[in-house]
Amino acid sequence: MTTPSNSPAPTGTVPQHIAIIMDGNGRWARGKGLERLSGHERGAEAVRDCIQGCRELGVKYLTLYAFSTENWQRPKAEVMGLMGLLERFISKETSDLNAQGVRVEAIGHLTDLPESTQKALRHAIEVTAHNDRLTLVLALSYSSRVEIVDAVQEIAREVQAGKLDPAAIDPDLLSRHLSTRAYPDPDLLIRTSGEMRLSNFLLWQLSYTEFYITPTLWPDFRKGELLQAVHDFGKRQRRFGGI
Ligand code: FPP
Repeated sequence: MTTPSNSPAPTGTVPQHIAIIMDGNGRWARGKGLERLSGHERGAEAVRDCIQGCRELGVKYLTLYAFSTENWQRPKAEVMGLMGLLERFISKETSDLNAQGVRVEAIGHLTDLPESTQKALRHAIEVTAHNDRLTLVLALSYSSRVEIVDAVQEIAREVQAGKLDPAAIDPDLLSRHLSTRAYPDPDLLIRTSGEMRLSNFLLWQLSYTEFYITPTLWPDFRKGELLQAVHDFGKRQRRFGGI
């Protein structure tokens, strides 16, 4: 894996990296008198649409918060339903994604996932590894705090082994120990369903990211609103703490 430059997209351009907290599947389903799983299923259609939109816009990285560490606390039927949906989606879409030049990657504690979901994911990652039009990063069994703790433990082991001087620990070094080290920090974060929180998602990487919060529930989020978010982003003045 090569390490791309962490330099952000200039104002007025398309974000090179979009991260999305896909929220509101349950509320969408409840509003229609359906099971929560129907909301997740419809959410998978929004994922397909968004990948397509990102490809068309020239976005290089799309990171989707598909399952958090905290999501394991949901009822078993919903968790298993979501795992099955992810597996079906990945298996069904791999060949299309490959044909479209999409590279599939994943972050999180992937070994927590059922073996069959891991298998589908490994296959998609292998088959699409040569693509470079769009990198789709699925955050699965992901917790940003755990990711940072994992990185700190790795750094501590290097110090203990005498391979690293504590004085050499700086933000760049920590970034290089995160699971996102191969990707630039997100330029734009989209969160659907109107919630104003980060929910343990990319806490370090979102330090200077622009936010687009929409009341739209994730299953209703389509390319048109993605375009709106990108248009909105293009008007932002990013100062990164400067003036
Ligand atoms: C949050 O909505 C959504 C999730 C926890 C799961 C996201 C999963 C998908 C969109 C399914 C398809 C994903 C891929 C990558 C194919 P919520 O259930 O918390 O909604 P609520 O807050 O309204 O209850």
